Amino acid sequence: HPDGVPLSNLEPDRFLPYPRLQEGLREVRRRITKPLSLSQKILYSHLWEPETQDVTPLKSFLKLRPDRAACHDATATMALLQFISAGLSKTAIPTSIHSDHLIVAEHGDEIDLENARQQHREVYEFLGSASKRYGIGYWKAGSRIIHTIIVENYAFPGGLIIGTDSHTPNAGGLGMLGVGVGGSDAVDAMAGMPWELQCPKIAGVRLTGRLRGWASSKDIILKLAGILTVSGGKSKVIEIFGPGVETLKATAMATVCNMSAEVGSTSCIFPFTDAMTSYLAATDRTYIADAARQNMNLVVPDEGSDHHYDEVYEIDLDKLEPHINGPFTPDLSHPLSQFAGNVNASSWPLQLSQAMVGSCTNSSYEDLKKVANMVKKASSAGLQPKVPMLVTAGSEKIQATVRKEGILNEIENAGATVLSTSCGPCVGQWNREGAELREPNSVISSYNRNFVGRHDGNPATHSFVSSPEIVTAFAYAGTLDFNPVRDSIITPSGAPFKFSSPTADELPVSFSGGETFYQAPGADGSSVDMAISPESDRLQLLTPFEPWKVGYSEDMAILIKVKGKCTTDHISPAGPWYNYRGHLENISNNLLNAADNGFIKAAAQTRGHAINQITGATETVPEVAKSYKEAGVKWCIIGDTNYGEGSSREHAALEPRFLGGVAVIARSFARIHESNLKKQGILALTFAHPLDYDRLQPDDKVSVLGVESIEPGKQLSMLVRSRDGTTWHAMLDHSYQAGQIPWIMHGSALNYMRSIGSQ
Ligand code: F3S
Repeated sequence: HPDGVPLSNLEPDRFLPYPRLQEGLREVRRRITKPLSLSQKILYSHLWEPETQDVTPLKSFLKLRPDRAACHDATATMALLQFISAGLSKTAIPTSIHSDHLIVAEHGDEIDLENARQQHREVYEFLGSASKRYGIGYWKAGSRIIHTIIVENYAFPGGLIIGTDSHTPNAGGLGMLGVGVGGSDAVDAMAGMPWELQCPKIAGVRLTGRLRGWASSKDIILKLAGILTVSGGKSKVIEIFGPGVETLKATAMATVCNMSAEVGSTSCIFPFTDAMTSYLAATDRTYIADAARQNMNLVVPDEGSDHHYDEVYEIDLDKLEPHINGPFTPDLSHPLSQFAGNVNASSWPLQLSQAMVGSCTNSSYEDLKKVANMVKKASSAGLQPKVPMLVTAGSEKIQATVRKEGILNEIENAGATVLSTSCGPCVGQWNREGAELREPNSVISSYNRNFVGRHDGNPATHSFVSSPEIVTAFAYAGTLDFNPVRDSIITPSGAPFKFSSPTADELPVSFSGGETFYQAPGADGSSVDMAISPESDRLQLLTPFEPWKVGYSEDMAILIKVKGKCTTDHISPAGPWYNYRGHLENISNNLLNAADNGFIKAAAQTRGHAINQITGATETVPEVAKSYKEAGVKWCIIGDTNYGEGSSREHAALEPRFLGGVAVIARSFARIHESNLKKQGILALTFAHPLDYDRLQPDDKVSVLGVESIEPGKQLSMLVRSRDGTTWHAMLDHSYQAGQIPWIMHGSALNYMRSIGSQ
């Protein structure tokens, strides 16, 4: 094209930003002479003010210009509602919306998809019409999973994408830096404002050798999760480097980047390799690979930059064992050879009840072909899976291809159910028979996340994550004390059957097109009608939050003192609540429903409950919050360590704000949630001395002092008044930057954005 290289096949009149990125990087290089890592290059080349931006890790907040934004249907409604209230006519950067989260897995592909189309018609119509109106590409239900669609259509080496989903780092498999954000961050970028990110540190992971036997790229990240834990990647970009990188395929690299979300990292990235060229060619984008090669300095790190990483981990692929992580947390990592012993020692349910292959982490052509190859061999030996299997392909392109090549038939013939290619059980959208009985059971999947109740709402489901091939082998074994490397399965004829380590090509000879579920952005959407019914219980226009008032944070009641792990799935559970993601009032009825309260003696039936300090009754957390709101009682939440880890959903911040919450004071925060709280005008503060958490009592009154004169880097103080009138003080830290302080005073970032726009 005379004006540049197209950004994607779907956007032939938008162009790759390499010339602008080169300019930005040149500016930064005038000041910084040391070798730059790949993520530094990507971040610096996307700066709004490359000439002056401070780039001190953990101190400065980078003002960035992402190349694109993406939202899925469970976050897009709220993001769009926020975008609408900013009063703009069109998104400033290429944006796409993907309908993948709302489809409930129950009967299988076609029926589930049709049910979703009926059940979510109102939301899908809103997303479709709002996309047309604001120039957004809309991927309708059936088009498959957001991150696979991004890699297949939009990702390019050296680019920067933000997505309202924590697994957006998946794009790192094609050398694009992907960062999961809350909807309000996405709205900033969609509105053409700088998107702010705390300047991250760099954690290098050096790969040597080559994967062997049963080990797959999933095991790189499963092992790393065990080393780093769920919070060890916080405020860091994980850069993979070393000679082992060249041995990996693009989709395998995407698997590693995808699951980097499980260590709480900002992102994860691989340098541009020949494998990425092959993948771009297979998805009809050779021109992007050519352009990347002409801009090599933007898509690979500088030589010697690895000497400047903040920390380095070594993984020898030659020696890497398959891993299985879980239950209940993705960082409880077990090498396969130790797994059976750990299961027995921990008394986890030995019998498997379900095996699942899919999710955006592991549903590539290669993944499914490996599964089919294993199934074929097992079938010829007369074996059937011993537990039900659910299988999902990552995109329509993959689904159509594996269908055409007979791969899906092979899997279905073995008795597996092929689900509609969407998130399904990965995100609690699984109508699992008997889950309400809450019986202890074990499931294994190739997914990425295994928090309590994540798949089926049953807190007693012990969920383990592994690679598709390990999951398949376990489906045939039926128990967790199995090791496919060592053990055989007895066939109906009495002969032993042993799986050999599975292999498959990464890419098909050619991808089939499949059905088209894509709605292109309209050139001019100003006449598109986008009415929201006032009677709707699923969609509700937002009313701006009120601005800060002096004394707002004085004498706050403690709504709940959260104890232990509290992910966004605990704060705003998913599953059936997805239906209310566009209706703040209704979804607020799930606030902290799954959280443990340190003020109430632990028992499953008290989870999500709190003591109403007005009546003395024990009620659900949202009931207590509403009661305080009605009585004009301001309140705060006390959080434990890494409060708000997990997904990027801003509902976890919007809900407490809507119900009258003023502050969350935690031992520490997960990055995205902390940012979401700030954006919605909730004070996000941490104890300077974490032991002060223990001193707080249910009927204490908490005052945060000095908010009106808050300054970056300056502590605030907290005054606690007990019922008997005694008081004590504690110091509180915060991470507010100068540009974020107006969010507090205006009541939210959006209020502030609107106030600037109207000046
Ligand atoms: Fe969906 Fe699970 Fe990925 S929810 S986007 S398949 S992590």
